[in-house]
Amino acid sequence: MPTKFLIKGPTRLYGTVDVRGSKNAALPILAATLLTKDRCVIDNLPLVSDIYLALDALKGMGARVAWTGLRRVSIENTHIDPKGLRRDIVKKMRASILFTGPLLARFGAIEEMHYPGGCSIGARPIEAHLAAFVDLGAEVRRDKKSFSISISAEDAVSSPHAVVLSEFSVTATENILMFLSAAAYKKSIRIAAAEPHVIDLAKFLSKMGAKIKGAGTSRIDVYGTKLLKGVTYKIVSDYIEAGTFLIMAAACGGELKITNAPISHLDLVIKKLASGGAKINIDEKSQSLTIRTVKRMRLDKIQTLPYPGIPTDLQPILGVFASQTYGKTLIHEALYEKRLESLKELTKMGARVEILDPHRAHVGGPTRLKGGEVHAYDLRSGAALIVAGLVAYGTTIVHGARHVERGYEDLDGRLRKVGAEIKRI
Ligand code: EPZ
Repeated sequence: MPTKFLIKGPTRLYGTVDVRGSKNAALPILAATLLTKDRCVIDNLPLVSDIYLALDALKGMGARVAWTGLRRVSIENTHIDPKGLRRDIVKKMRASILFTGPLLARFGAIEEMHYPGGCSIGARPIEAHLAAFVDLGAEVRRDKKSFSISISAEDAVSSPHAVVLSEFSVTATENILMFLSAAAYKKSIRIAAAEPHVIDLAKFLSKMGAKIKGAGTSRIDVYGTKLLKGVTYKIVSDYIEAGTFLIMAAACGGELKITNAPISHLDLVIKKLASGGAKINIDEKSQSLTIRTVKRMRLDKIQTLPYPGIPTDLQPILGVFASQTYGKTLIHEALYEKRLESLKELTKMGARVEILDPHRAHVGGPTRLKGGEVHAYDLRSGAALIVAGLVAYGTTIVHGARHVERGYEDLDGRLRKVGAEIKRI
């Protein structure tokens, strides 16, 4: 299986790309289908390896999964055995932590669940998840390799009215939201994450029968029910993928139309790119954007924050754009302690990067990048290094294509359609 990308630059991008469904909305929603024995139909799934892994995990527990369309699956969780949750998948995919809430709601206990794989961007502890379940009255037992949780309805009902998360954790918010949606009492989640994928999960759970108020804010009130029903649901478009294409076009130049883009989720990204010299026409009606770069300006600062701040998942790609704008840009990666790695890879292509500490770096520009051999360590740094290859003069080899296909469907194929010289080798 070809494991690298070979890219020839510099390339300007011209044409149209269509945004796929959000991987980070699909993953909790697929987990949430465990909350009912009825059939669920989930549409607009991105065809990426994390989604296939999540479906394999469900099948391992006894789910009946059938593809009924190019991006649509039917899932029936009539007979589920949590012991069937495959450890190899849990270790490989961080998002497998999202099975905790639904399995705990359905069975009242989870025995020896392995810690999900961390990854190169940071330790990504699950403390926020476990502490939140303890807040809800659960008993957590753990050792070096796994944890067990049990909770009784009485404990949960008599626990404090609000679960206060220890940070704006996206998947911890989603885990508690799924658990409470299947419980027949009212609780609220404070310090909840507000990301678009949390909102999409809340919409799915509401359609199943839960009463949820405040999704998209830091306080979510949930009145669940034991009778959640099967539903048909279409996954929201992926603002991280849309943002990836926007930044690519801003960095490479040309004129790119991006269709099916969740524009309202991209306020600050659009603002930043415009300040960096990009001209972006927005068509709210058709939910499409057209971007071209008219001149290079200054970015000054890119600071990642929980939503609606600049998404950390776009930081590596914005770092490449920063190398093409004027002056010194401060990259402040406020969330992860190891997510500046791709900037270090960028220096192999001539980027002027000064790492100030694990969370901050300066990127100078504009810099003429040159083709080189670089390594992707996670899906977003993979996308960033592909952008760098499109901008650079010469040939670039990006190792680690498997990381990119975890979250981007056929990225090289879609880029070739808009003029990129890129192929798998
Ligand atoms: C989710 O991961 C996403 N994954 C990640 O996307 C994304 O990077 C992350 O949220 C942040 O947006 C899925 O949704 C499946 P966290 P999650 O708990 O829930 C620190 C991708 O590329 N932090 O929100 O595991 C926290 O300690 C993946 O698609 C703060 O410091 O992440 C952790 O180190 C990668 N302060 C990191 O941020 C806060 O207030 C992420 O935390 C909140 C979080």
